[in-house]
Amino acid sequence: MAYDYEFFKSQIFRLTAIDLSSYKERQMKRRIDALISKHGFKGYEEFVKAIEKDKALYDSFVAYLTINVSEFYRNPEQWKVLETVFLPDLMKKTGQLKIWSAACSTGDEPYSLVMLLSKYLPLNKIKIYATDIDAQILDKARMGIYSDKSLIGLPSEFKDKFFQKINDKAYKIDDSVKKCVEFSRHNLLKDPYLKDCDMIVCRNVLIYFTEEAKYEIYKKFNEALKKNGILFVGSTEQIIQAQELNFKSVKPFFYQKL
Ligand SMILES: C[S@@+](CC[C@H](N)C(=O)[O-])C[C@H]1O[C@@H](n2cnc3c(N)ncnc32)[C@H](O)[C@@H]1O
Repeated sequence: MAYDYEFFKSQIFRLTAIDLSSYKERQMKRRIDALISKHGFKGYEEFVKAIEKDKALYDSFVAYLTINVSEFYRNPEQWKVLETVFLPDLMKKTGQLKIWSAACSTGDEPYSLVMLLSKYLPLNKIKIYATDIDAQILDKARMGIYSDKSLIGLPSEFKDKFFQKINDKAYKIDDSVKKCVEFSRHNLLKDPYLKDCDMIVCRNVLIYFTEEAKYEIYKKFNEALKKNGILFVGSTEQIIQAQELNFKSVKPFFYQKL
């Protein structure tokens, strides 16, 4: 019997630990079907057998599934709000700030946080926990090499201070910034969450999840924050049930734990 999509999902979970049932089905299935036919496979079964054998195909499938586009200072106007509205209070805290960049992709977001904080704190006082489900993308993040395109939104003061041009189109981020970020693999749908965070930045990933999965994740983010801690979300990710989830909407795309 040919695999149906339900069975395919269970096989993908077995192989990758990615639970496709928590991702919006129509969008995900359309993407997967397009990929399978692009590679010339006849259906799900043939494709599953192929990724079991071919590591390169497996890796490119995971990368494709997880959609890891990112850029520095994505939506710069929201980073301005972070700097002018929320950083002053964060800077009043004593002790090291605990900041989590969840679903950090190629590292643009946690590194942007380090550079912004470096205006107010010495680098040796900055530590960002950065996580993603995709191990390969984390290797890329640790390498810290970026195209000029991903730096478009970054204030030039940071680009001048923390990047070295390595050829016409590529830049390398300074080791002093890299040292402030600890990358690790984390699946938002199943792994334990950090605790006592002052701020969580999780942007442009929950749009891919079902409403139920999103709700659970926001609940866990709330538990992971300290009282009055801040959750910074992506520009299409307003939390509709903020109050029910013990969050107060303080600015568009910023929520505070009550
Ligand atoms: C579009 S990128 C967002 C990157 C960055 N936060 C930004 O806004 O530019 C989405 C990231 O979410 C990650 N991701 C997808 N599903 C995930 C999950 N279940 N747990 C953790 N990360 C996940 C992907 O690997 C990808 O790197």
